[in-house]
Order: sequence, then structure tokens, then C-alpha cells
Amino acid sequence: MANLNRKVAVPAEEIDRQREFMLLVHDISEARFLSQGNYPKAFVRTYGCQGNVADGEKLKGMLEEMGYQLVDSPEGADFVLYNTCAIREHAEDRVFGNVGALKNNKRRNPSMLIGLCGCMMQQEHVAQKIKKSYPYVDLVFGTHAMHRFPELFYQALSSHCRVFEISQSDGVIAEGLPTHRDGQFKAWLPIMYGCNNFCTYCVVPYVRGRERSRQPEDILEEARELIAHGYKDITLLGQNVNSYGNDLQNGIRFPQLLQKINDLDGEFRIRFMTSHPKDCTHELIDTIARCDKVCNHIHLPVQSGNSRVLKAMNRRYTRESYLSLIEYAKQKIPNVSFTSDIIVGFPGETYEEFLQTVSLIEQVGYDSLYTFIFSPRKGTKAYDMPDPVSQEEKGKWFRELLAVQEKIGEGKYQALVGKTLRVLPEGPGKTGEGYLTGRSDSNVIVDFPGEDSLIGKFVNVTITKALNWAVLGELR
Ligand code: 5AD
Ligand code: SF4
Repeated sequence: MANLNRKVAVPAEEIDRQREFMLLVHDISEARFLSQGNYPKAFVRTYGCQGNVADGEKLKGMLEEMGYQLVDSPEGADFVLYNTCAIREHAEDRVFGNVGALKNNKRRNPSMLIGLCGCMMQQEHVAQKIKKSYPYVDLVFGTHAMHRFPELFYQALSSHCRVFEISQSDGVIAEGLPTHRDGQFKAWLPIMYGCNNFCTYCVVPYVRGRERSRQPEDILEEARELIAHGYKDITLLGQNVNSYGNDLQNGIRFPQLLQKINDLDGEFRIRFMTSHPKDCTHELIDTIARCDKVCNHIHLPVQSGNSRVLKAMNRRYTRESYLSLIEYAKQKIPNVSFTSDIIVGFPGETYEEFLQTVSLIEQVGYDSLYTFIFSPRKGTKAYDMPDPVSQEEKGKWFRELLAVQEKIGEGKYQALVGKTLRVLPEGPGKTGEGYLTGRSDSNVIVDFPGEDSLIGKFVNVTITKALNWAVLGELR
């Protein structure tokens, strides 16, 4: 169904136009490869968050439509596409390193094409650097041009000129693009794009545009399709799913959307990320508690346990309001578990303030944490803030935090011994021969002995032992 949010919807005619470019590229593939019984090969690597992974699945879907076979390595590929992430310097450095390494591939195979897309490319200074210093990169496009990939790829293939498309935009929603799903049982389902929050450290609002919600009908249709194809674990994606629907005029906000997906027929579970604490309401928590298919796990990034730092981060909640939300969820959702993102060493953070983050994680008792040392991002407010604490000192704080969380995690896993969890087996386990691995509703990795025929089917597993990265169990 077409998106009715007229301001942001890519018109159906434009998607049809892109489909024509897919056919044109397919013709080129046909002439060069398919007619000789060969496939042109494409390697797509995605960096960063699940939103990027979902974009990567669309890019792969388009490539398949264009006659390309997806391969697992850049070696021997006719097209290499890196779908990049800009969230931290480390992510960007990895991309530059990997692009640098492609120079040799291109030397060996001059007809190969190299493309870069995603969040890094949406930044003018990065695109300029690629233009100047990486002349063997053929195609560069930003997040807002993703739906125009077929057209841009066709230009690069047919013109032998370098193609750059990084125009600024508030962002669009493109429905109806093909998708190549990486998983058989687990699927990503974007419900909205962009971010309006402008946390002072974060580059996302600059590279992903403003918040825009997909129409509920489009989301429900995709969910139905996934369920019909046997997907059992569906993660709803958005930078802040709690502001879903703010830009729509139909009264459907995130709690209502969750309820509607929960009401679909079939045996499946629903996860979602990311939930911003400032917009996480009691209504949402009550909905999670009520909806049997919605997992009892909330990823609720706190970033810092100190209210002054939270204010400097522009998070718009306090330590106290966050903790009261956690208390409410603990009361309402049986066996609820939490995970979080933490930034250590935000500019101006003192050791005493950092210790408040440590005390907060002890108080909440997270299952696990995604911890990061602050990375200055050009264009953000925090980039220009005085940052007197050395990297070495921040590294110490970081390790201190990890050590505390490790203990908390161990305690959490230990407490699962003797309990029975519902698990979706995904494939062979690391523990040894005959083991399967899967995740519980609360997102804990569970390994247990079992037949391959159980893969993709929900099973009950009684936990027998806690490891530090997973728990072991036996089929009940
Ligand atoms: N430095 C460090 N971590 C960051 N994050 C976002 N921007 C930065 C930055 N500049 C982290 C936040 C966010 C997660 C996705 O990445 O914790 O929740
Ligand atoms: Fe970045 Fe904050 Fe938006 Fe999350 S909510 S994407 S951290 S600006």
C-alpha cells in the first residue's frame, strides 16, 4: 500500500521508475554474464545498527532483482558495496581501512565497481574525502538516496564515470522495494525512520533526517507477510519507536501499533528498539505487559546515571524519572529484563558523576550493556564542548564499568538456573556437537542439546548452568 504521509512518501511512479532501472541493469547483467551461464557477483557489507542492517537487506534485494548473486567476500566480486555507519569514529575508521584494502582487489579486477553508501556518506566532509583520496570508489550515495540505488548503479555501470549523490533532505519513506532477508526466522521491521531528538553527542539526526512514520497498514501488511513466511521473531525498528505516529493523523501511536501487531494470528514474538526513556509512557509499559507476543525485555538506553550529564546530553529525563520508569516496569511486567546503552567520558563528566552511572546500573540490574567511550562527532554540539579528561582516564572508567556489569550479568544468568525459558533455536550451538543455540524471550543466548529439526520452532528449555556469555539448558 502506498504511504499516505504525502510530505515524505516516495511516489509509486518513482518506485516504478527505479524498477525500470533494475531491468536495465538486469539487461547489462544478461549480456555480460547471464547469457554465458554466469552470475555477476555482489558483496554487500553493512556496518552499525539494525536500521542499517534493514537498509542493507533492501540493497541486497535490489541487487538480486538486477541479476546479481550475493557472495560472502569481496574476493572475486564484480560489485562491492559498503553500507556505512557514522555513530563513532571507530566505525568510520574501520570503513576507511576496509575501503583502502579494496584498492588491491580493483587492481586485480579493474572492471569491478566499488560503492559506498549509508550514514557516513551523508556527511559532506566524508564524501569529499572519498572523492579526493579514494579515486577507485565508483559510486557514493547517502541515506536519503537509498531508494534510487538502481538508477545510480545503472549510471555507474553504463557511464564509467564516478557517481556521487549526497543531497541533503529531511528524509523520505520508500515503500515497495524488494528485500533480501538475511535470516529465516528473525526479521527486522522498520516502523519509522530518522530522529528529532538531537542528543548533543549524536550524529544520527544529521545523517538520517527527521522522524517519519510508516503507515500502520504498510507495517501490518509486512508483518503478515513475515508471519506467513515462517518468521517467528520480529523486531520493530526505529531510532525512537516511542515517537511512532507523532507525524500521522490517525491516532495510532506506538502502544496501539504494538497491540495491532500482537493481535495478528500466528505463533511469533515481537521485539522493538530503540525506546527513548523520555517518551516511554506507563501506557506503553501496560501494553507490553498485556500483549502476550511482546517480549518481556526492554532496551532502554540511559546513557548516564547523572542528571547533570543527562541534561548536557539533551536527553530530557533525569536519573530519578528513569529509575521510576524502571520500577513501574518491574512491577507491571513479570520477569522483565532490561538492557541499555552507556556513554563513558561525555565532555565534562567527572569521576563522581561517572560513579553515579555505576550505581544506577547496580540499582537497575541490567542483563547486559552496550558501553561506549564518548567519540566526538563533527557537527554535533558535544564536538565543541571542553573535554578535559584524558582518553587513558576514560579507558579506566570504562573498564571499571565493565567489571561491575560483568558481576551483575553473572548474577542475572545464575538466577536463571532451574527456570524454564521459551527459546527459538536458530542454528548449531558453540558449546559442542549436537548443541543448538537460540534466544529466550528476554534475549538471553541459550545453548542446549537438540535435533536440527527443532531449528525455527519454539521450545521450552530448563536452564542448568550459567556461562558468562550464555546459559546452558535441557529440553523440557
Ligand atoms: N560517542 C559514543 N557513543 C555514542 N552513541 C551515539 N553517539 C555516540 C558518540 N558520539 C551511542 C549511544 C547510542 C548508541 C547507539 O551509540 O549510546 O545509544
Ligand atoms: Fe541519537 Fe539521541 Fe536520536 Fe538516539 S535518540 S539516534 S542517541 S539523537
